[in-house]
Amino acid sequence: MKRLLSGLAAIAFALAAPLPAHADRTPDDLRELSRTLRVHIGSAVDATALAGEADYRRVLNQEFNHVTAENAMKWETVEPQRGAYDWEAADAVVENARRNRQQVRGHTLVWHNQLPAWLIEGVDSGAIDARELRKILRSHIMTEVGRYRGKIRAWDVVNEVVDDTGKLRDSIWLKHLGPGYIADAFRWAHQADPRARLYINDYNLEWDAKKIETTLGIVKDLKAKRVPIHGIGFQGHLGIQYDYPGDFAGVMRRFTDLGMEAAITEADVRMVMPATAEKLATQADYYQRMLSTCVANKRCVEFTVWGFTDRHSWVPDWFEGEGAANIMDENLAHKPAYDALLAVRRK
Ligand code: XIL
Repeated sequence: MKRLLSGLAAIAFALAAPLPAHADRTPDDLRELSRTLRVHIGSAVDATALAGEADYRRVLNQEFNHVTAENAMKWETVEPQRGAYDWEAADAVVENARRNRQQVRGHTLVWHNQLPAWLIEGVDSGAIDARELRKILRSHIMTEVGRYRGKIRAWDVVNEVVDDTGKLRDSIWLKHLGPGYIADAFRWAHQADPRARLYINDYNLEWDAKKIETTLGIVKDLKAKRVPIHGIGFQGHLGIQYDYPGDFAGVMRRFTDLGMEAAITEADVRMVMPATAEKLATQADYYQRMLSTCVANKRCVEFTVWGFTDRHSWVPDWFEGEGAANIMDENLAHKPAYDALLAVRRK
């Protein structure tokens, strides 16, 4: 009798329990994973591939609910000649995102790389003085942020402003405008689109102690001055020949404890070629740990990969002898890293 009662109780409990039988079913794709994790899952978009490769376009739109233009919004692309803008590629990325219900990260407003030649040459020759340079920067930010007002969830306002020794990077911005350019850039971006989340973004910030301390200092200083800064972007460019940055979760916590939102903005995990099954397994583990770090922090709202296929990756061009950094291969077949992401759950 006792056994029967407890058996009945167990059945009643099972019927009443809110856990659906398929609670731990593996999501079908990254969009479904994103819904269960409540973290946006994004990819960088190669605008040329988006325009020309149907399979690339199909997988991008199927899998991701967030996108970042890999190059299309950078200054050299949007203003190749002074005053002559080219928004074609950037518009195409934003329009594709709208049609496919993807949110957009704007990348990037103030950087030391991929600046137009006219700007660098003008500053070098003295034809553009500091006063004019500040006006040019303001107009660049107001024009670009203004053009996409309401269509960009978050902007990388400043990118890589701390160097590898932990000092403010000796860019044309710092040299000619002084450190105040950072606060100016955030204020101008906020003026142009008051609802966009405004980020400071950097690489090696997952582990580089000097960069971490300096960046925390910048954030605290901006907040003390009531400058509109909302988010910290960890690029997440890792390589399996280095240890996984074991303290990443703690580092992220230090920023989010300041009230910042966080995002992993450019995740990829490169390896020395050739790829082997063992290396791909390590890569899968690194990807999984990065996404898990984001999921474990309530304020981490976005996990974006820097491209999803080894067919289009910056890695072979920038790191000699390295590659295979993405979650799908050249033919868009899922690598172990893709499945490792699908296996991540909220604790
Ligand atoms: C890279 C692009 O992927 C390449 O296509 C381009 O040639 C150089 O820039 N950090 C960033 C990104 O913030 O903008 C960089 O993207 C990769 C490193």
